[in-house]
Amino acid sequence: KSRGLGDLYKRQAHWYLATAVSRLTTPSRSARSSPEGEQPLAADTERSTEEEHVNQSKCRVCREPAIIDLPRHNANFCAEHLLQLCRRQVEKAIADHDMLSIDDRILVAVSGGKDSLAVWDILVELGYRADGLYLGLGIGDYSDVSGEYTRAFADERGLTLHTVDLRDEYGYDVPTAAKVTKRVPCSACGLSKRHLFDKAASDGGYDVVVTGHNLDDEAAVLFGNALRWDIDYLARQHPVLPARDGFPKKVKPLMRLTEREMAAWCIVRGIDYQVDECPMALGNKHLAYKEALNSIERTSPGSKSAFYLEFVDKMSPILAEHRDHERSRLVACTSCGAPTTEPDSGDAPVCAFCRLHDRVGGHEPVPVEMVLNKRARKAYLAAQESGE
Ligand code: AMP
Ligand code: FES
Ligand code: ZN
Ligand code: ZN
Repeated sequence: KSRGLGDLYKRQAHWYLATAVSRLTTPSRSARSSPEGEQPLAADTERSTEEEHVNQSKCRVCREPAIIDLPRHNANFCAEHLLQLCRRQVEKAIADHDMLSIDDRILVAVSGGKDSLAVWDILVELGYRADGLYLGLGIGDYSDVSGEYTRAFADERGLTLHTVDLRDEYGYDVPTAAKVTKRVPCSACGLSKRHLFDKAASDGGYDVVVTGHNLDDEAAVLFGNALRWDIDYLARQHPVLPARDGFPKKVKPLMRLTEREMAAWCIVRGIDYQVDECPMALGNKHLAYKEALNSIERTSPGSKSAFYLEFVDKMSPILAEHRDHERSRLVACTSCGAPTTEPDSGDAPVCAFCRLHDRVGGHEPVPVEMVLNKRARKAYLAAQESGE
């Protein structure tokens, strides 16, 4: 079966992740220090002799050989203590922001990528009652493969996974919505995801929705919002949104952990995940902001986490009043009951999801490549061919 962009980019992405994790250790050592004890870290076989000599670094905690360097902590860690660091950062985020209680029924939105699978894994390990929710967005092979990783993760661990398919249940998919609305795919995608996370949680009686947004995601969004000083978005950018009117609380327990740390978590824990970026997101602003922040981080380690975590500590309380004011102005959608803003026109309030659904539901499916720009389409089709 074709894995689309997968086969082309996967080797490259795994190479990056594997060197990130195992740069500082030998293959035999990394295999032994993995909790599964059997799987060498990815691409061990491809590692050059030169890199095998770079094995001097020791774990900050136990002085055993390290598998990863984390410049922002100015330290190296072995597999066991990397996992400990990740767990502690999640526990700290949960405690600092009163995210979860042990009795909560938790719904984790899982995309099949490293972050959401890792957060589900960590929460279950910490003893939380967490089920998963996967949304089939209809983005060609990318969605099919993401769904496979998610189901495999849940099945292997005997966890409950709910699935909602946009095409089956609402008569549209993300490429079709993008084509019909003539807007960037991420717009219909984000809107659909937010609405369906809320709905699945409220239908299933869950107290809280968890997403896998990490420090890199949040810092990139903050960067974009700050570039425009978009006060409404800045006010809304908080790692916890409280429940309101029957809608669940929403939390981001990975707010203190980076993409690289989550990739390392998955590699060490032997979690197989969708490595590809969404083909529709290639070249978007969010990725460009991430690159800009990474370039600052390289010359000044720790600045990315300071940028975001200090915003949450110092600016977010100042914006709380604005956030509460905006939320108090929301009314119920007359079609589905979801909170939405009251139209100035005096018309009955209908939420953005219901408007999108009315407009695009029932349209014939549009293939992914139809909504990509020329360059992205060429790369996508080439990757598809090489994946056959
Ligand atoms: P993204 O918007 O792709 O950056 O994803 C942010 C978070 O939304 C992920 O970490 C997941 O928690 C969640 N998410 C993204 N895509 C899906 C999906 N297809 N199904 C369920 N959850 C998703
Ligand atoms: Fe939403 Fe790609 S995952 S547009
Ligand atoms: Zn150690
Ligand atoms: Zn609605």
